[in-house]
Amino acid sequence: MAAGIIVSKTLAAATVVMTLSAVGGIISMAIVYQMAIDVNPPTRPPVTTTPEPIPTGPPPNLRLPRNVVPEKYTIILRPHLYTTVTNVTNQTFLFSGNSTVIFRCLNKTKSIFLHSKTELNVRDPVLTRLDKEESLKVKLKVNDSTVSETDFLEVQLTDEDAALEPNGTYSLFTNFSGELLNDLAGFYSSAYELKETSEERYLAASQMQATDARKVFPCFDEPDMKAVFHLTILHRVGTKALSNWPKEDSTGYVVEIDGEKWIYTEFKPTDKMSTYLVAFAVSEFDKKSSPTHDRDITVWARPEAINAGHADYAANITPAILDFYQNEFNLRYPVSKLDQIALPDLAPTAMENWGLITYRESSLLYVQGVSSTFNLYDITIVIAHELAHQWFGNLVTMSWWNELWLNEGFATFMSYQGMKHAQPKWASEDLFVINEVQNAFQVDALASSHPLSSSEDEVQTVDQINELFDSVTYSKGAAVLRMLSYRVGEAKFKTGIRTYLKALQYGNADQSDLWTHMQQAYDEKGDEIKAFMSTWTNQAGFPVVTVDTNTGYMYQQKFLLNPLTNQSDPESVLNDVNFSDVSFSVLIVERSELKSDKWVLVNLNCVGYYRVNYNLENWERLITQLQTDHQAIPAINRGQLIDDAFNLARAGYLDVAMALNTTQYLINETQYIPWQSALNNLNFFLLMFDRSEVYGPMQVTVSMLVTSHFHPLWSQLGLLNLLVLPFLHRYAQLEAISMACRLGYKDCIEMAQDMFTQWTTNGTIHPNLQSNIYCHAIAAGGEEEWEFVWKAYLSSTIATERDKLRYGLSCTKHIWLLNRYLQYTLDATKIRKMDVVSTISSIAGNVAGQALAWDFIRAHWKHFSNEFGEEIGFLGHLIHWVTERFSTEYELQQLKQFQSDHTEESLGSASRAVEQAIERTQANILWVRENKDIVLDWFQSALETST
Ligand SMILES: *[C@@H]1O[C@H](CO)[C@@H](O)[C@H](O)[C@H]1NC(C)=O
Ligand SMILES: *[C@@H]1O[C@H](CO)[C@@H](O)[C@H](O)[C@H]1NC(C)=O
Ligand SMILES: *[C@@H]1O[C@H](CO)[C@@H](O)[C@H](O)[C@H]1NC(C)=O
Ligand SMILES: *[C@@H]1O[C@H](CO)[C@@H](O)[C@H](O)[C@H]1NC(C)=O
Ligand SMILES: *[C@@H]1O[C@H](CO)[C@@H](O)[C@H](O)[C@H]1NC(C)=O
Ligand SMILES: [Zn+2]
Repeated sequence: MAAGIIVSKTLAAATVVMTLSAVGGIISMAIVYQMAIDVNPPTRPPVTTTPEPIPTGPPPNLRLPRNVVPEKYTIILRPHLYTTVTNVTNQTFLFSGNSTVIFRCLNKTKSIFLHSKTELNVRDPVLTRLDKEESLKVKLKVNDSTVSETDFLEVQLTDEDAALEPNGTYSLFTNFSGELLNDLAGFYSSAYELKETSEERYLAASQMQATDARKVFPCFDEPDMKAVFHLTILHRVGTKALSNWPKEDSTGYVVEIDGEKWIYTEFKPTDKMSTYLVAFAVSEFDKKSSPTHDRDITVWARPEAINAGHADYAANITPAILDFYQNEFNLRYPVSKLDQIALPDLAPTAMENWGLITYRESSLLYVQGVSSTFNLYDITIVIAHELAHQWFGNLVTMSWWNELWLNEGFATFMSYQGMKHAQPKWASEDLFVINEVQNAFQVDALASSHPLSSSEDEVQTVDQINELFDSVTYSKGAAVLRMLSYRVGEAKFKTGIRTYLKALQYGNADQSDLWTHMQQAYDEKGDEIKAFMSTWTNQAGFPVVTVDTNTGYMYQQKFLLNPLTNQSDPESVLNDVNFSDVSFSVLIVERSELKSDKWVLVNLNCVGYYRVNYNLENWERLITQLQTDHQAIPAINRGQLIDDAFNLARAGYLDVAMALNTTQYLINETQYIPWQSALNNLNFFLLMFDRSEVYGPMQVTVSMLVTSHFHPLWSQLGLLNLLVLPFLHRYAQLEAISMACRLGYKDCIEMAQDMFTQWTTNGTIHPNLQSNIYCHAIAAGGEEEWEFVWKAYLSSTIATERDKLRYGLSCTKHIWLLNRYLQYTLDATKIRKMDVVSTISSIAGNVAGQALAWDFIRAHWKHFSNEFGEEIGFLGHLIHWVTERFSTEYELQQLKQFQSDHTEESLGSASRAVEQAIERTQANILWVRENKDIVLDWFQSALETST
C-alpha cells in the first residue's frame, strides 16, 4: 500500500483559493449567493395567534398553532378483529377506542387544533380544566373543506366568553373508531397462511410514520409535540398485545364486554416521545428471546417461523449491536425491553418505533439453507439501522421533517458501525462507499435533487414530507456525516455526538444543534464546523473537483448529470456554488504537490462527498498504474476511479473511451468494490444499448471480462467456494454470475437450466444462486418453468424465498406471461401490496417487459395513486424504476405527456420522481446521441484485440 499524505487543511484551502481566482468569479458568485440569503431570509411560518382579540379559525399554514402543548395521552384501543376465524366468529375489521390527552395552554385561545384523519370517526368530546375541575362546553368541527387537507380537527369552545387560559392544564377526552384495513397505514390488518393446514390467520399492527398516528387517534401529530403515552389494548382471548413500553405487572386479565371476553393489557407509560413512534401489534405470534441481557430482548414472528429457528440470527446479534451503541453513545437504551417483530405486511423495510421495532419478514428472519449472503447482509444492516434510531430519532428527534436527514442520515451512517461490530469481517467501509456514497451521487447529480436541509415552509403537505424519504436524505445524509467524522477526527466526532445526544435527549434538534456540539468537541473557540457543513447540507448537489497535474491547479464546479440543465436555468445562483474544503484528503504517491509528472489521486478512500476529474495525462497514468500494479491504489479508490470516470463521461466531462479503459485491468481484480462499481456502470450501458446494435459487441466483451476472471466458478469446485470465500468476494462472484447469465453467456445459462431441472425434481439450489437460477432458467424457458415457479411462490411461507421466486418470474421473455404477471399486481391475494412496486420494477428491468410495465402503470395510475399515494416512497420508486431505461425522444414525450395529464395532486409523492425521470431521460438522449458510435468502436476494437 502506498502511504497516504493528507494535505493539511491550510494548504488545501490555499490551493482552492488560488484556483478560484484563476478561473475567475467563483468566489464572488458564492458571495452573491450568501447575499441573496441575507436579503431574503427564509421566512418562518407566521406566528399564529395574538392575545387580542382571541383568535378563531384555522392557522394560516399547515402546521399546528403552538398555543397548547400536549403532555400525556391515555389511550385505550380495541381492535375487534379475530386472529383465527371459525364458523362461529364474525370477522370485523374495525377498531374502537377512547383517549384523554392532557395539555397545557400557552396562549389564550377559543379553539384547540389537533390532527385527525377524516376516516377516523371522532365523537363525544369532553374538555376539562384540570386545575379547577371545571368542564367547558365544546363542539367538534371536522370535514371543513379547508381543514381536510390539513387533517385538522378543531375543538371549539362554544360559550361566548369562555377561553383557554395561559398556564391552565386541560384534558380532552374523545371516543373514536376506525377501520382495520389491509392498507399498511395507521392501525392495519394483515393475514398469513399456516403452512401445515393452509388456514388463514390475521393480525393487527401499526405504522405511523410519517403522518398516520392521526389515522388511529386524535393527536398533535408533529414530531416536536412530544408527550407521554399511556396505552392500553383490549384484545381477543388467545392473542398477545405488544407496544412500545413493557406491560404493567398487574395486567393481562380477562374482562367481559357485551358478552365477549377480552384481555386487558395495560402498558407502562412511555418516556416523552413523538407521535410517529407510537406502535402496537396484536397477534398469535411466538417469541425467541435473546441470550441473557439486562434488557429483555425478544424477536416475535409467526409461530412456524419461530419454531423453525428463523428468528435465531436476529436474536443473537441484537444484544451485541445494542451494547455497542450504548457504549459508543455513552447513554443507556432507556426502555427495559426491546421487541422486534417480523410482520407479513409492512410498507417500509422496517420501522424504528421505540421499544417495538417492526420489520418485513425478509429483513428480520434468516433461514438457513434458504436465505442468501445478500439476505444476511440486509438483515444485519437493517437491524443496525433501526437500533441506531433508538437514539438518533427516538431519543433526539428532528424538530420538523425538513431535517429528516438528522434521523435517517445518522441511522444510516451508524448502521455500518453497528454492522462492523456484529460482523467484523465484512469490510463495512467498502460497502458504505458503494451503497451510500455512490448511490447518493446518482440522484444528487440531477438539477431536480434537493438540499439535505430545506426551510420548514417548503415541507408542509403530507406528500412533501413523504417525498423526503429518498436516497438524498439517507445516503447523502450518511455520506456527509462520514465526511464530518474524518474532518474533525474520530475521537472528537464521538465526543460531539455524545454531548449532542445527552443535551438534547427527550427533545428535538435541528442541524445547528449538531454543529454547536461538534464545534465544542472540535475546538471551542472556532466556528468552522458550521461553515464547513452548511455548504453541504443547505445546497443540493455536489462538486466535481478538477485537478490539473500539469499546472498544479484545482478547481470545483457543481456536478450535473445533464450539463444542459445548467443552461436552461441561467438565473440559478447555484451553478457555481462553493462547497467547503473539498480537497482535505489527497493521496499523492510520489510527490507532495499537485503539480506532478507522476500520478496524483485526490479524495483518498472517497471520504469527501465529491467526484474528481483530472487532466488526461493523469487519467492515463492512473489507468497504467491500475494495469501494472493496481494494489498501489486503495480498493475504495479503485472503485471510485471507475465510478467517477463513468459518471464524468455520462455528464460530458470526460471521454467515454477513457471511462471504458478503467475497466480493462479488472481481469486481475478480485475485490468487490471495483467490480461492483464497474458492474453498476456497465449496467447503465446495457440499459442504454440493449435495444441497439451496440449490444452485440458489448455483450461479448463484457461477458469475456466477467467470465475470464470468474471462470472457475462454473466448475463444481468453484461453486463450493460460494460457501467459504470471504464475504465480499462471495458478493463479487455473485454479481459476476448474474452479469454473465444476463449477457447470455452459454455456460452460465446451461448451469442455470441444469440446476433448475434438478430443483424441479426435488434437488436444492445454493441460496446464493437461487434468484439467478430461477431468473435465467425462466428467461430461457417457457410457460412450464414459469408455472412451476409461480406454484412454488404461492406455496412458500418464507419471505426471502418468496422474494427470490417473485423476482425470477419477472425474467420471462414471453410477453403474455409478463402481462399476466403485471395483472397479478392488482390482486393483493397474489402479490402483497408491499411487493407490488418491486415486482413491477423487476418486470421493467427486463428488456422484454420495459414497455409493458410503463404502459401498465400509466393505464392504472389512478389505482396506484389511490392505493399507494400515501405510502412513503412507493410511487416515487415505481416511476424511477420503470423509466430507468428511457433514452429516446419518444419516451421523453410520453413522460412529459404523463406529467401534463396529471395534476400535482394525482402525481402525489411521485411529482419529484417524474421531474427527475424527465431530467434523466434528457441526459440519456443526449448522451446516447453523442456516444453511441464511440462506444460501439470501443467495444469492437476491444473484441478485435482480444481475438
Ligand atoms: C363449525 O364447524 C365445525 C367443524 O367444521 C362443526 O363441527 C360445527 O358444528 C360448526 N358449528 C357451527 C355453529 O356451525
Ligand atoms: C355476523 O354479523 C351479522 C351482521 O352484524 C349478523 O347478522 C350475523 O348474525 C352475525 N353472525 C354471527 C355468527 O355472529
Ligand atoms: C374507554 O373505553 C374503555 C374500553 O372500551 C371503557 O372501559 C372506558 O369506560 C372508556 N372510557 C370512557 C371515559 O368512556
Ligand atoms: C404564547 O405563550 C408563550 C409562552 O407563554 C410566549 O412565549 C409567546 O410569546 C406567546 N405567543 C403569543 C403570540 O402571544
Ligand atoms: C405561568 O406560570 C409561570 C411559572 O409556572 C409564571 O412564571 C407565569 O407568570 C404564569 N403566567 C401566567 C399568565 O399566569
Ligand atoms: Zn431509518
